[in-house]
Parts: sequence; structure tokens; C-alpha cells
Amino acid sequence: SAADPGALRTPIVAVLGHVDHGKTTLLDRIRGSAVQEGEAGAITQHIGATAVPLETISDMAGSLVDPTDFDLPGLLFIDTPGHHSFSTLRSRGGALADIAVLVVDVNDGFQPQTEEAIDILKRTGTPFVVAANKVDTTPGWNPQEGEPIQRSLEKQSDRAENRLNENLYELIGDLSGKGFSADFYWRVQDFQSNIGVVPVSAMTGEGIPDLLTVLMGLSQRYMKAEMAVDVAGPGVGTVLEVKDERGFGATLDVVLYDGVVREGDTIVVGGRDDPIVTEVRALLQPRPNAEIRTEKRFERVDEVRAAAGVKIAAPDLDEAMSGAPVRVVRGDDVDAVKAEVRKEL
Ligand code: GTP
Ligand code: NA
Ligand code: MG
Repeated sequence: SAADPGALRTPIVAVLGHVDHGKTTLLDRIRGSAVQEGEAGAITQHIGATAVPLETISDMAGSLVDPTDFDLPGLLFIDTPGHHSFSTLRSRGGALADIAVLVVDVNDGFQPQTEEAIDILKRTGTPFVVAANKVDTTPGWNPQEGEPIQRSLEKQSDRAENRLNENLYELIGDLSGKGFSADFYWRVQDFQSNIGVVPVSAMTGEGIPDLLTVLMGLSQRYMKAEMAVDVAGPGVGTVLEVKDERGFGATLDVVLYDGVVREGDTIVVGGRDDPIVTEVRALLQPRPNAEIRTEKRFERVDEVRAAAGVKIAAPDLDEAMSGAPVRVVRGDDVDAVKAEVRKEL
């Protein structure tokens, strides 16, 4: 039964994978946006964050997801760059994740940053599913816009289905070479000890209902205890970017992964020299389904709960650093929180 959605933390889902395998396009399909088309050189160069509400997920997943089965308020998706030069950003995105989607182009298969992403997920012990993307590029494919993958497979010729299966078995073999027992997701019983492979197309939306269903199931089944921890405690987050905003000066784009931040709160942020102590002047929240990297119409709010992307306006943020921790001071003394932030830098 659905509990108070505010009582559980939104799970953080990192999207990782090799350059151009379709991470941003996949998120565009889910949130109904075109962020990928606006990217310089068609390359993602920053970590992004998008809150996707349960309502959007159940609309997309159709009959596969019954919203009354879920207590979670939705999912916070973290987009990461796949280009080899951004390994720091991939690690940072991976470190934020509760669960992850490893996006692999079914035709390209495992590539260097696929392996790098797997190493990050192994190191951080993050459960993940594989989105075997671009199934629509299989020769002879008969696209079935937005359909669950089984329904799409019924409409494919034997030749196209066999061709896709060859690629999928190769992927399953590569995962096994990395020490993971993997299979088509519909054969997986226990997603903690087996990796589910979900065939999808970010372009046609085929398999996206399945991917969302698996992610919700994984979050709900395995993460609920963790999601219920400390939802009202002092906010803790990571700075994605420091950006000048008209009328506010330097602001922080933050992924808040724990607790609550309120207007007027004292916060400590990692800075170039010493941690910066300042007071929150405004909290600007992207709209649901909006990518914080490209959002233009932030909503001013009194408080933000984890997990969420939020722009924090406060004095003296010019020396703040991307990747630095942000901590709300509530009850504790400032020096203790400063010491904590210094330790994390
Ligand atoms: P980086 O962030 O730079 O690592 O790339 P990415 O993984 O986010 O890939 P991106 O979304 O930029 O997509 C790369 C290219 O693949 C774009 O031209 C997309 O249109 C295309 N693409 C992505 N998904 C699909 C798909 O499912 N089918 C087809 N046919 N093309 C796709
Ligand atoms: Na790209
Ligand atoms: Mg991208």
C-alpha cells in the first residue's frame, strides 16, 4: 500500500556507459525532452540530474507498472558523460548512485568506458541493470513505438530477432567475462545476484516500459530500508557545477542525496582554499522531468528533500568547487561540519 511519499527518499539512478551509446537520448525519451540535440559536439560534458515522478514512470510503463504497488515518489536520474576524458565525472556520478543503468549499444557491445563504468559499479557495490540500446538499428527491424519489448519482438521477423539475440548473447558473455552472471531480464529472479539485460531503443521507446519497471522493482524491493533512513536530517549533497545566475551571482547546482535543506539554513561547502560557510538565500528547484543542466524556469521553494537536484543561491560561493561536498549545519557546531567537509575533499 502507498505510504506518505514524503517519508521515503527518492532513489538515485546513475546512467553510465561508453560515449554515444545513448544515455542522454534514453533520458530524453523518458522525460519527453531534447537535451541531447542541444549538446555541443553531441557530447555530454557535465553530470546532469532529473527528477522523474512516479506518475511519469507509470504513464510510460503502461500496464507493466501499477502505481499503487509503489511507495517511492519517483526516481532521480543522474546523466554522466561517456567520453574518455571525463572519468572523474563518471566516478562522481557512480558514487552518488543507489542503483545504475549501464547503457550499451547492442551493435558496438563492450567498449573501454563500458568496462570503466563496470569497474566503478563494482568498486561502489552499486546494483545495476543493462540497457541494451539501439535495438532499432538491427537490420530488418520493424519499429513498435513505445511498446514493451516482448510485444515488439512478436512483430519482428525471425531473421531480425536472431540477429538481435546474437548481439544480446555476446553482451551477456562479456558481462560474464567481468564476473557477472547476466541474462535477459525476464529470466532473472534475483536482481541482486544476477544482472538483468533489457533490450531497448531510446529512439523508438521500445523496451523503455520494461526498463522503468525493472528499475522501480529493484528500488522498491531492495532499497526501501535504505530509502527510509534519515529523510528529515540535515541535508548532504555534492556540487555538480558552480554557475553565475542573474540576480544571484555564483550559485551551486547540487545533487542532494540525504536529508533536507531549507531557505535560511547555514551550509558548509568545499572551496578552493578552506570550506565556505554561508547562508542559503534561495532554493531553486527544476520542474519535474527537467534536466538541471538546461532548466531555465526554476521554481523557488522553501525546502528541498533528498534525493533531488537543486540550485542553491547564497553569498560567497565564487570559490566553491564542482565535486565538493555541501552540508547543512543544523544542531551541530559549524567547526565540526567544516572538519567533516575538509575530510571529504
Ligand atoms: P555521451 O553523453 O557523449 O557519452 O553520449 P550518450 O551516451 O549520451 O549518447 P547520445 O544520447 O548523445 O546519443 C548518441 C547518438 O546515438 C545520437 O545521435 C542519438 O540520436 C543516437 N541514439 C541514441 N539512442 C539511439 C537508439 O536507440 N537508436 C538509434 N537509432 N540511435 C540512437
Ligand atoms: Na553523445
Ligand atoms: Mg550524453
